[in-house]
Amino acid sequence: MTLCIISGQYVLNFFTISCQLYCIPNILPKFLYTGKGVFEKSRIIRKLGGKMFGTTTIGIDLGTANILVYSKTKGIILNEPSVVALNRETNEVLAIGHEAKEMIGKTPANIIAVRPMQDGVIADFDLTSGLLNAIMRRIGSKSGNNIRKPNVVVCTPTGATSVEQRAIQDAVRSTGAKNVTLIEEPVAAAIGADLPVDEPIANVIVDIGGGTSEIAIISYGGVVSSTSIRTGGDHMDEEIIQYIRKNYNVLIGEATAERIKMELGYAPITHETITSDVRGRDLLTGLPKTIQVESTEIQRALTETLNRILEAIRHTLEQCPPELSGDIVDRGIILSGGGSLLHGFQDWLKQEIDVPVHMAPSPLESVAIGTGRSLQTIESLGKKVK
Ligand SMILES: Nc1ncnc2c1ncn2[C@@H]1O[C@H](COP(=O)(O)OP(=O)(O)OP(=O)(O)O)[C@@H](O)[C@H]1O
Ligand SMILES: [Mg+2]
Repeated sequence: MTLCIISGQYVLNFFTISCQLYCIPNILPKFLYTGKGVFEKSRIIRKLGGKMFGTTTIGIDLGTANILVYSKTKGIILNEPSVVALNRETNEVLAIGHEAKEMIGKTPANIIAVRPMQDGVIADFDLTSGLLNAIMRRIGSKSGNNIRKPNVVVCTPTGATSVEQRAIQDAVRSTGAKNVTLIEEPVAAAIGADLPVDEPIANVIVDIGGGTSEIAIISYGGVVSSTSIRTGGDHMDEEIIQYIRKNYNVLIGEATAERIKMELGYAPITHETITSDVRGRDLLTGLPKTIQVESTEIQRALTETLNRILEAIRHTLEQCPPELSGDIVDRGIILSGGGSLLHGFQDWLKQEIDVPVHMAPSPLESVAIGTGRSLQTIESLGKKVK
């Protein structure tokens, strides 16, 4: 778990271009520290403008579960699971996205269908590059090949180490991208959820993804307090697999666990119990077996993961300066990311932290939209400066 408190030092937080850091333009001070020294704002912006304009610019949400690509002119142009199917012998990429996800756990020995991102960062560099290259080709063919050598903004978890950040930059660069800019995932989520991040008020964003949960308080363009834990929707699936194995001696796959989570998974709130048939392999006989599982059982199985997320949210709120705490009571917190769609999650959180809890307009797309909007902010600033 990582914690980062940056107050008054927002310059260091928003954008990283080739290891240099930038922030939201309308709050830029006259001089900026960029990692290579202190420079005058206008000089940096001209340099940034030179790097960002004249070429197609796209935003990528390279998530553990889903990869989304945003184009300034067309909005979301690609939304696929972050899965790649590969021929083990030839290393040829056979399928990506939805097609590859369908193959998980069902392939013959010479084919693997895997998720190359784990816990928000790259677990297998070659596979991630293969996935990104295939995605760029797909986008290129859709758009008549007019996305060549694009400038790319890509998000990273706030908890990512510099080595992990560099790996993400390198993987994107391997697709032929001209410049690669990094943005912190909760900042992108907040921008994508329409929060007024550049005003001096507390904007609290809670993004529950597949591999990570990120909580950030953003005010006046800077991250005041943030927590990133490597726990998310995938861990809920894992808890369900373990629960069914332990209590029914039945082994189920990832896809079944995810389906059960979406159908029967509830945060710890009172609800009308629902039941569903679950199919798997009996560990004693080795034969296929169908069992009946209740939502209350799945609810119990998810408690530990949910409590870990709750603890991280509480921890972040405790770090909030008292002047901003008042805003949180009035404005509440905003949820984004697929994990926040779990039945009852919003109501449960409201009960537990006693502040209003709202859903982002498009929880699964907030990060990609925010990545794209951050580009627009840079671009409009560049035009003003020219
Ligand atoms: N209706 C739903 N109920 C519960 N969980 C859901 C629902 N829809 C999606 N999810 C879960 O949300 C997760 C994916 O969310 P999202 O696309 O935000 O993650 P990601 O951005 O790829 O991951 P990360 O940000 O951690 O790298 C998956 O674990 C998925 O099972
Ligand atoms: Mg995400």
